[in-house]
Amino acid sequence: MSGVPGRVAVLDLEPVSSDFLAEVVTGLSRTPRTLPCKFFYDERGADLFQKICELPEYYITRTETKLLRRYAPEIAESIGPNAALIGFGTGAGIKTRLLLEHLQNPIAYIPVDISKQRLIDSAIELSHAMPALEILPVCADYLQELQFPKPLRKPDHVAVFFPGSTIGNLDPPVAADFLRRVCRLCGQSGGLIIGIDLQKSRAVLEAAYNDSAGVTAEFNLNLLARANRELGADFDLSRWTHRAVYNESEGRIEMHLISDADQNVHVGGREFAFARGEKIITEFSYKHTLEGFARLAASAGFREAARVWTDPEQLFAIFHFAVAE
Ligand code: AVJ
Repeated sequence: MSGVPGRVAVLDLEPVSSDFLAEVVTGLSRTPRTLPCKFFYDERGADLFQKICELPEYYITRTETKLLRRYAPEIAESIGPNAALIGFGTGAGIKTRLLLEHLQNPIAYIPVDISKQRLIDSAIELSHAMPALEILPVCADYLQELQFPKPLRKPDHVAVFFPGSTIGNLDPPVAADFLRRVCRLCGQSGGLIIGIDLQKSRAVLEAAYNDSAGVTAEFNLNLLARANRELGADFDLSRWTHRAVYNESEGRIEMHLISDADQNVHVGGREFAFARGEKIITEFSYKHTLEGFARLAASAGFREAARVWTDPEQLFAIFHFAVAE
């Protein structure tokens, strides 16, 4: 399909669409109560996340994009020529473009995303911008084991691109399992380019997740609104408050929804009683140190010595790991 701008064929591995109702009921039955962060991203949630990325307090997207603008030539050189680039949840984003445009003779781009529509839209857009590039979109859950389609030309090696510090949502042992799978996917000569949010002052972190415009609060509360819309739940949004706190000993931001009153909520024929002040945990977002993340990657099979690009304030880092011999 290379050379046919505007036309893409998606390989649909039919990611098991997870069961929202079952996961809500399970999560709300736990102590402490939880709701999985993957459900943030319905259409409304995806729009709100887009807005978050543009907030003055949310340094993550801005810093990573700046790093890529500045260092894409170096990163591309570090990857080397004739690579097949696999992008996890990358879309058509400016970040991917920056990298692709600097790669020497990229063999193919293989975006992997759980949302088929986002995949199609972004692949079509990219096919117009880079008509010579073979684009092989795969609709799949990149947290699962995954095989990628064979490009027309044979690549010398595979590079996985995982920007956005999305790996921060995973508890470290789960992140290590995920990195092990990426290692297998890359093979001997392959590599991983990954964006990692770094540990920093509580003030900066908490401001990024408690923005003054209240967009993150809306993003968090949208989880309850979505349960009302899709599951017929009866969360009273006026009685829940967004809160994000930095848990320094665990190195993670925790997003909570706090019940403002004693109240009962119904979902899926079940009743849940919340006490005033009780929390639902909706997201963990781990922050790493440069050494800590390098150690985690090494434990998963990547070579100890990685290249790393970071900003002067060390807010964010982009690593390039090679697979260990
Ligand atoms: C998409 C997981 C990287 O943790 O910063 C933004 C999601 N949550 N504001 C993050 C998010 C609240 C974001 N990630």
